[in-house]
Amino acid sequence: MLERCTRGHVEGRVRAGLLEQGTVNLLAQAGVAERLSRESLTHAGFTLAVGERVHRIDLKALTGHGVTIYGQTEVTKDLVEARLSNGGQVHYEALDVAVQELGDRGARLTYRHDGASHEIECDFIAGCDGFHGVSRRSVPRQAMRTYERLYPFGWLGMLAEVPPVSKELIYSNHARGFALCSMRSATRSRYYVQCTPQDSIEDWSDQRFWGELRARLPREYAERLVTGPSIEKGIASIRSFVVEPMSFGRLFLVGDAAHIVPPAGAKGLNLAAADVRLLHQALVEFYSSGRRTLLDEYSSRALARVWRAMRFSWWLTQLTHKFSDEPFAHKLQLAELEYLVQSPAASLSLAENYVGAWRD
Ligand code: DHB
Repeated sequence: MLERCTRGHVEGRVRAGLLEQGTVNLLAQAGVAERLSRESLTHAGFTLAVGERVHRIDLKALTGHGVTIYGQTEVTKDLVEARLSNGGQVHYEALDVAVQELGDRGARLTYRHDGASHEIECDFIAGCDGFHGVSRRSVPRQAMRTYERLYPFGWLGMLAEVPPVSKELIYSNHARGFALCSMRSATRSRYYVQCTPQDSIEDWSDQRFWGELRARLPREYAERLVTGPSIEKGIASIRSFVVEPMSFGRLFLVGDAAHIVPPAGAKGLNLAAADVRLLHQALVEFYSSGRRTLLDEYSSRALARVWRAMRFSWWLTQLTHKFSDEPFAHKLQLAELEYLVQSPAASLSLAENYVGAWRD
């Protein structure tokens, strides 16, 4: 494992925190869910707010599944801990990582560490290095096709040591813009507000953030909101992105290296975990039997789930965010939200996509 940053940096980054049951099961199968089972929260539903109107989506009743609240950063810490205690290595601060060959006979990586040059001969390379990583860029342009959509807003996220405003998550569609109330524990809240893409952190004092969040919540929650100093604040740009296929020769792209979803619905980590499950099965098949069937099918099997999550994240984003001042668009959102509230079929469609309960 080659990682450009320090361990401290990787383990200090705040990421999303909602795991599908399939992700939790995968972590349990891999033997890395011990702390998760002790420290995570289970949510049976969430709240959709539209102005002053509040509607609960009962995930458990609709699908039989809830979701698990456990920070992606905590998953990373557990995985690194397991790797190191199994005698595996993680090379932090690996600089200038480059894929030198992706040929039929093998693949080769070079990098620098502590001033020295290193080279690794690889059977396969798992490109888990995110949207800006080198893996995808190592593939000849004509061998892959990309699909992309940018959204006209960003997300400002903040973490604070205050009790969450509600026991479950709240997704709020408000005339001032979207807001999301999430959490990491009973004493730590994770909140987001839609902002403009040009905004920078300096534009957002804690006071402004809390004021804006409160303004975008229904009164019953706004009155209960407990505020405090932020531990972390960050702005993310919002995009949908997919590259096809997700493999090239002996390189297999995994997670954000191959696909990005808008954050609403928290599919990013869950999609990455689903990729890992498929690649793991394929590598087990290869090393136990020499067969390459699952390696050959990796991309098409992964992409089926990716596009399903693409559609869902796009849909949840366009339903809950402010795209423009156009009244027609807002009225359509209200009509669709009303339909969700009224129709068990529409609620079920939302719920089964949210919990990720579908077959690959
Ligand atoms: C979180 C982020 C999301 O995008 C979401 O839909 C739910 C939860 C989070 O960071 O907790």
